[in-house]
Amino acid sequence: MSGMPELPLVGQISDYLDKQAPKEIRRAIEKAGKDDILDPGYPYREEMDKDDYKDRMERLQLQLVRMMHDVVATGKRVAVLFEGRDAAGKGGTIERIRENLNPRSAYIVALPKPTERESGQWYFQRYVDWLPATGEIALFDRSWYNRGVVEKVFGFCSDVQRNAFFRQLPGFEQTLVDDGIVLVKLWLNVGRAEQLKRFLDREKDPLKQWKLSSIDVDGLAKWDEYTGAITETLNLSHSPIAPWTVIRSDDKRRARIAAIQAVLNAVDYAGKDVKAIGKIDPKIAGGPEMLK
Ligand code: ADP
Ligand code: AMP
Ligand code: MLT
Repeated sequence: MSGMPELPLVGQISDYLDKQAPKEIRRAIEKAGKDDILDPGYPYREEMDKDDYKDRMERLQLQLVRMMHDVVATGKRVAVLFEGRDAAGKGGTIERIRENLNPRSAYIVALPKPTERESGQWYFQRYVDWLPATGEIALFDRSWYNRGVVEKVFGFCSDVQRNAFFRQLPGFEQTLVDDGIVLVKLWLNVGRAEQLKRFLDREKDPLKQWKLSSIDVDGLAKWDEYTGAITETLNLSHSPIAPWTVIRSDDKRRARIAAIQAVLNAVDYAGKDVKAIGKIDPKIAGGPEMLK
C-alpha cells in the first residue's frame, strides 16, 4: 500500500513455504492441479468452468451498467466495502465491477495508512471524505474495518481506540443508511493454502510483485490472530441495517459472480432483471456463518 515496490520482500514467501508453513498447507499447495480448489472445506473441488463464468459475468456487467445509469439519473449514493484477508481477491473483484462503468460515477477508494495528522483525527473522519455523493458508486478496497482486523493484529491501535471504534460503529453506519446511502458490506474469505499460493504467484510475477507488502509477509505467521480478529469484528458489526455478505473466495470466479450479485441485489434500479442476476449460490455466499 506504500505505493513503492518492496523488492526485498521477494523470496520471503517461498522461504516461509519451505521453512515455516504448516505441513498440511504446504502439501495442499504442492499436490494441487491447475484448477483444483485448495481448501478442503470448500463446497466445490474445481474452479467454475471458464465459458460459464464469461457468460454469467457478461450478463451481470450489463446489469451493473443499468444500475449505474439509474444511480446517476435518480441521484442515488452507493458505498460498497470490500474486506477480507490479504490476497482474498478484493482488488480483482473491484476491477470486474468497475470495468465497464464510467470512472466518474464508480470510483475506487483505497486509502494508504493514516498520516500523522489523520491519526490525530476522529477515526472515521478520513473515510467520510470519500463517501459517495449523489450519482456515485464508491468501491472501498478496505475501509474503516482496518481497525477491527489489521490494526488489531499488528498493534497499530490501542485497545481503547479499538473499543471506541466498535462502540461508534453501529451509530456511524446507521447514520449513513439514514442519510440515504446504500451500504453494501462484502467479506471475502480465502483459505490459508490458497492465500499462500496467491502470494507465491505474486512473488514470481514482476507485474504483481508490487502487491506484496511487509504486512503480507509478516501476516503469514499471524493466521490465527487474524481469524480471532475477523470473528470478533463480524460478530460486532453484522446488523440488520448493515449486514455482511460473506463470500467464499478460494475460487475467484464464483466469488466475483457472488459479489456482483450481492451489489445488484442491494440496489433498486430501473430495468432490474432479477433473472439475469440469478440467485446467489448459498454454498458460496451468505451471512457470517459462512466463515465456519
Ligand atoms: P493492501 O492489502 O491494501 O495491499 P497491506 O497489506 O500492505 O495493503 O496493508 C493492509 C492495510 O493495513 C492497509 O489498509 C494499510 O493502509 C494498513 N496499514 C499498514 N500499515 C499501517 C499502520 N502503520 N497503521 C495503520 N494502518 C496500517
Ligand atoms: P485453520 O488454520 O485450520 O483454522 O484453517 C483456516 C483455513 O485454512 C480454512 O479455510 C481451512 O479450510 C483452510 N485449511 C486448513 N487446512 C487446510 C489444508 N490442508 N489445505 C488447504 N486449506 C486448508
Ligand atoms: C486482495 O487481493 O484481496 C487485495 O487486492 C489486496 C491485497 O491482498 O494486497
